[in-house]
Amino acid sequence: MAAKIIVVTNQKGGAGKTNTAVHLAGTAIRRKYKTLLIDADRQGTATKWVSQAEEGAPYKIRVMGLAHAEAKIANEVKQYVEDYDLIIVDCPPAVESQIPQVMLMIADLALVPIVPAPGDLWASTDLLELAERAQVINPDLQIRIVGSNVRPNLAMTKWAIETLENMRPSAPKLKTNLNQRGAYVESMLTGDSVHYFKSAAKPAIQEIESLFDEIAAVLNIPKVKKQ
Ligand SMILES: Nc1ncnc2c1ncn2[C@@H]1O[C@H](COP(=O)(O)OP(=O)(O)O)[C@@H](O)[C@H]1O
Ligand SMILES: [Mg+2]
Repeated sequence: MAAKIIVVTNQKGGAGKTNTAVHLAGTAIRRKYKTLLIDADRQGTATKWVSQAEEGAPYKIRVMGLAHAEAKIANEVKQYVEDYDLIIVDCPPAVESQIPQVMLMIADLALVPIVPAPGDLWASTDLLELAERAQVINPDLQIRIVGSNVRPNLAMTKWAIETLENMRPSAPKLKTNLNQRGAYVESMLTGDSVHYFKSAAKPAIQEIESLFDEIAAVLNIPKVKKQ
């Protein structure tokens, strides 16, 4: 089976793209999916994150830096589709970069993390429109929004989540939110996802596992890869 391609994208920096991409990769590996994380952002945060892992770490995430490929990134990625089950692409923030646009043409899923706050909501419409236009050429592309860095106790959060739920019919919001949690930030130093912390990060682990379950349903793949 050719790899399913998940493109984590949003035009805004700080939306939680890298956090979402690395955590999905860490979860997918634990679900026995042969997974490749592609760092398509010149800042290289995903690469640095993963490189913090100790040698011989049991769930080492395989990361490949392809930001330099620019518009040719899709050709690069296509070379790996037969070698992996899942390819997760951490995109650069700018819509001006050609990478999100090019990757949407070959992706199965555009996953759009959005922080439920006014500025972030306003800034995400261009990207959602871009993804919708990509569906004309790539009809297999599905678009989903995920609430990112969510602060459930803020009064505006309820309004913002409802707004996300009704942004665009082409981009349903997934039920799982990634709440604002220290464990996500601290996991960067472990080179791994929050799974590294085991029971000390139970709520974060449950969240990312539940997000993976929802994504598996969208992609029509089993929750755990059948051997
Ligand atoms: N759910 C979360 N809880 C706490 N901090 C988060 C969460 N998501 C992202 N962050 C932090 O917010 C910042 C921006 O996130 P990042 O994933 O790098 O965004 P992007 O890749 O979209 O620029 C980082 O410092 C990251 O650790
Ligand atoms: Mg990033």
